[in-house]
Amino acid sequence: MNFAKCRTPIAAYARRLGYGVVGGMLLLLPLGAEDFISPFEYGQMLYQNPRGVSCVPCHGDRGEGALIARYVDKEGRKRQLRGPDIRNASFETIKKAVATGPSVMPRYFLTDEEIRAIFTYIREVQKREEGQ
Ligand code: HEC
Repeated sequence: MNFAKCRTPIAAYARRLGYGVVGGMLLLLPLGAEDFISPFEYGQMLYQNPRGVSCVPCHGDRGEGALIARYVDKEGRKRQLRGPDIRNASFETIKKAVATGPSVMPRYFLTDEEIRAIFTYIREVQKREEGQ
């Protein structure tokens, strides 16, 4: 299996972990190994570590928003820089934010599939917490 070319979630996961560690283990998995990682887990993994710059410090574990920094402005006022709550952000909103990198947010190069996985994760984690 050539992980560099393969576009299945498990291959993407393997790329991130490093082929060396995972490669050997994957060979032991039966066919249909893609099911080994659920869409939820794939989205969570992406949300937590997309290309090494996680969404978590700025948007919280579940997209609820987070305090990025406290600072004092030129007038001496205490200010906070916060990453907004993105739990209700649409796929298009996420796609736009990721592709443009508004204000302090970095710009990411993620595929639609990856953005969809992040979107699904944020929605799903919310549903699970609400007990649906
Ligand atoms: C360094 C901090 C930082 C990181 C990392 C970051 N963001 Fe953001 N993000 C922000 C800030 C700050 C804003 C608000 C920008 C603005 O209002 O101009 C924002 C805006 C957004 C918005 C738009 C919200 C809206 O309602 O318009 C979305 C969606 C979003 N981020 C998703 C993500 C996702 C998904 C990731 C990870 C792939 C991520 N962000 C990584 C700081 C960050």
